[in-house]
Amino acid sequence: MKSLDELDKLRQKLQQDMQVRDNDHEVRVTVSMGTCGIAAGAREIVQAMLEELKEQGLNNVALTQTSCVGLCQHEPLLEVARGGEKTTYINVDREKAREIVRKHLVQGQVIKDWTNPEK
Ligand code: FES
Repeated sequence: MKSLDELDKLRQKLQQDMQVRDNDHEVRVTVSMGTCGIAAGAREIVQAMLEELKEQGLNNVALTQTSCVGLCQHEPLLEVARGGEKTTYINVDREKAREIVRKHLVQGQVIKDWTNPEK
């Protein structure tokens, strides 16, 4: 049994390790995986992103998920964060997810027609 002090040190070490891993990635893609996101096909979006990231040989991208972002009508959706810039893509399907990887992540071109007009 570990003491509270040992557990606290362990927690701090894990947080530091996670920050190091986060900082290794210069781009973060966050897929909304709330109830409506999953119902709209968010799992397939994650799968398509993983496949295309692998095909493109991109290893500087952190693919993460978040819960509901309150935009049911636009699901599935994902956010690309690079540096201080954030772009939200809405009504994403498998082919759009792959194209976002090729155009936005590889070539640095935002696909404006697929972004959230409310943001
Ligand atoms: S579950 Fe759809 S907006 Fe939250």
